[in-house]
Amino acid sequence: MALLEIEDLHVSFKTVDGVVHAVEGVSLSLDARKTLGVVGESGSGKSVTAQTILGLTRFPNATISGRILFDGHDLLTMSTEHLRDVRGARIAMIFQDPLSSLHPFFKVGHQIVEAIRAHEDVPRDLARKRTIEALSSVGIPSPEERFNSFPHEMSGGMRQRVMIAMALAMRPDILIADEPTTALDVTVQAQVLELIQALRDDFGTAVILITHDLGVVAQMADDVAVMYAGRVLEQTTRETLFTEPEHPYTWGLLQSIPRLDAPRTGRLNPIAGSPPSLINVPRGCTFHPRCPYAPPPAFETEPALTPSQPGHLVRCHLPIEERKRLWQSLQNEHPALR
Ligand SMILES: Nc1ncnc2c1ncn2[C@@H]1O[C@H](COP(=O)(O)OP(=O)(O)OP(=O)(O)O)[C@@H](O)[C@H]1O
Ligand code: SF4
Ligand SMILES: [Mg+2]
Repeated sequence: MALLEIEDLHVSFKTVDGVVHAVEGVSLSLDARKTLGVVGESGSGKSVTAQTILGLTRFPNATISGRILFDGHDLLTMSTEHLRDVRGARIAMIFQDPLSSLHPFFKVGHQIVEAIRAHEDVPRDLARKRTIEALSSVGIPSPEERFNSFPHEMSGGMRQRVMIAMALAMRPDILIADEPTTALDVTVQAQVLELIQALRDDFGTAVILITHDLGVVAQMADDVAVMYAGRVLEQTTRETLFTEPEHPYTWGLLQSIPRLDAPRTGRLNPIAGSPPSLINVPRGCTFHPRCPYAPPPAFETEPALTPSQPGHLVRCHLPIEERKRLWQSLQNEHPALR
């Protein structure tokens, strides 16, 4: 059985402009020790999905349905108190901007100690020892001194390390990392990703890694879900995603990755157009306004997410043979895709 199972999740928010359908029927499963990459352009519902796992979208204007099963319990119906015990201790989350998750007025070491003690009955000096170990293992120099730093005294990369140290000190079953490296420069990005990998390898922590960067997915993920307009459009293993992708949106994302090994054509090919408003989602296939292949049914009926082969789900009306043929010809046209 999967460690975490999201079933038919729907999340919408009532706003003055209308109802925002942020997540529409998302089902995902995460196995122990695995990394699930979730990719998609801005506004595809990645963060809302992740936040909903931890009950962080329980706003008065939100309507949430579906099931999120963790350890035999449905997180969607769990009491806020009970969920607070799960959060941090069993499922930890790190965000793009660690400043927003650290308290500005408390020393970072103190915050980690408190996080440990909120979930575990350990004496303060032991929690302090574990905190210093965690700070040291994420590569923070002079961890005893850094224990006493305030968040604003650290760089963005250091703060992200502190967040990972906090996750590490808790030894959670699952780490949800929402664009953990977007705000960091390239060298620090690589270091932070390595730390997340180490957390998985050393403690068996499963990871949900949200990113708009397919390069990060290629490096880290075992499985990948491609999201668009609150839906999963394609879901498969990392290998299959890069070698036999079948959804026109995935092809667009792949064409827009900068490739170091490709002949320099000088520019990326971002997907033309922009993601739809989640208040007025297009009829039929949500991607049809931007899809170069849209066959007529795409304008009327939304395709279901169906298996094209075991473990490979695709939401597209094109027949499988046609998808395979189109991907072949795209690869012929753009050798960098091979
Ligand atoms: N509390 C809220 N109230 C109303 N709308 C919201 C709320 N939270 C998120 N949304 C909307 O839900 C949609 C999905 O947002 P989400 O943050 O999940 O996108 P994302 O895929 O994480 O994008 P990004 O890559 O920019 O982080 C967006 O249109 C966003 O404006
Ligand atoms: S269903 Fe049609 S419009 Fe949608 S992705 Fe497939 S081909 Fe494109
Ligand atoms: Mg987001």
